[in-house]
Amino acid sequence: MNVQRTQVGIIGAGPAGLVLSHLLHLHGIESVVFENRSRQHVEERVRAGVLEQGTVDLLTQMGVGERMQREGLVHYGIELRFNGEGHRIDFKDLTGGKGITIYAQAEVLKDLNNARIAAGGQVLFEVEDVAVCDLESSHPKIRYRKDATDYELHCDFIAGCDGYHGICRPSIPSHALTEYDRIYPFGWLGILAEAPPSSHELIYAYHDRGFALLSMRTPHISRLYLQCQPDEDIETWSDDRIWHELHTRLVSSNWKLTEGPVLQKGVTGMRSFVVEPMQYHRLFLAGDSAHIVPPTGAKGLNLAVSDVQILARGLDEYYSKCSLRLLDRYSEICLRRVWKVQRFSWWMTSMLHRFTDDNPFDQRRQLAELDYVTSSRAASKSLAENYVGLPLDPLE
Ligand code: FAD
Ligand code: PHB
Repeated sequence: MNVQRTQVGIIGAGPAGLVLSHLLHLHGIESVVFENRSRQHVEERVRAGVLEQGTVDLLTQMGVGERMQREGLVHYGIELRFNGEGHRIDFKDLTGGKGITIYAQAEVLKDLNNARIAAGGQVLFEVEDVAVCDLESSHPKIRYRKDATDYELHCDFIAGCDGYHGICRPSIPSHALTEYDRIYPFGWLGILAEAPPSSHELIYAYHDRGFALLSMRTPHISRLYLQCQPDEDIETWSDDRIWHELHTRLVSSNWKLTEGPVLQKGVTGMRSFVVEPMQYHRLFLAGDSAHIVPPTGAKGLNLAVSDVQILARGLDEYYSKCSLRLLDRYSEICLRRVWKVQRFSWWMTSMLHRFTDDNPFDQRRQLAELDYVTSSRAASKSLAENYVGLPLDPLE
């Protein structure tokens, strides 16, 4: 067994793990990142696409925002479409000038990987049998296998950034954690299409046949979603059937959906999940390993980034002032924000989707809610300030 040492061991090279590793580097703190998939796989996975203003500002401050500033699409509003009519929520006006940026998660990860490598950072891909141990001690360890050799890394702290299916959360004794979750009776069928987006801004559509979303990745690539069964068989959805359903659900007068070759398609289930606390001794959970939100609020990636921003500040305080004060409050500080984002994602999801057990009363109530949100300035403002991203709570 080869024994090594670092300050912070990070499991998972998704947005949480890579942002944390680079932030720590900027504070002069050493880390090693372990990822069980290949770099190519991580950089090609089609996932989130909406960055909050705070995420954009952080990536820019970290020196990894150059390509995002050049290629990202800045939006100052979204459209809510119901009864065949569109209603714009004007973020700029309602939030004092804030917006969102469309820039794919995969591109964010490419930029972060390049920055870590340029700075001489250690990001190990295709690592096998990653395990954490001695969690109750002051030097927790990460065991792993790479190129048929076993290693043990002694750390001051471990960050569990390994997503919902990772090994960190299940390594914590179950009596130390409480889990809260809700599984929705639907999923999203998503496609990436080689077609110029039919709208400058995102369209969230409520329709009798279910929710639909028009989003995009670039001026030439559209990203579109349809509410479907959680276990929908993608094989039963030909490209023609997908386009037909999108036309139906996104219908509006004087507007046309542009079609194009489908480059990728898949079905994602939807759940809300939170684990409390997000810390066990010197193991900190961040991002999807600690919480999942349904994608309707476009929050998953952004929440992962705000967790590690708080964690990096706590680790910086530990190494610069020998103080555990902020680290001890990590979970409490994160969870306040996590639950607000859970509330917003749940609210957007329940307003826009058809539920299996809904009845005409529920439909009328949803339409009244959409009417209220789009006609009351107070309600529009609440949606807008949540969508562009709530501020990080002051840490003092
Ligand atoms: P992840 O990005 O999941 O990163 C965790 C990393 O840990 C992964 O690279 C994984 O390979 C690695 N890992 C796991 N187990 C191990 C192990 N044992 N050892 C080493 N490494 C390990 N959000 C949106 O806002 N919009 C979307 O359209 C959207 N689509 C999504 C589609 C899918 C299929 C999924 C799963 C998520 C989607 N999300 C979406 C959510 C968003 O992408 C996540 O919230 C975000 O990726 C969270 O970042 P993270 O770093 O916490 O976790
Ligand atoms: C996306 O572009 O993938 C996207 C946009 C908005 C959402 C979810 C996903 O709410």
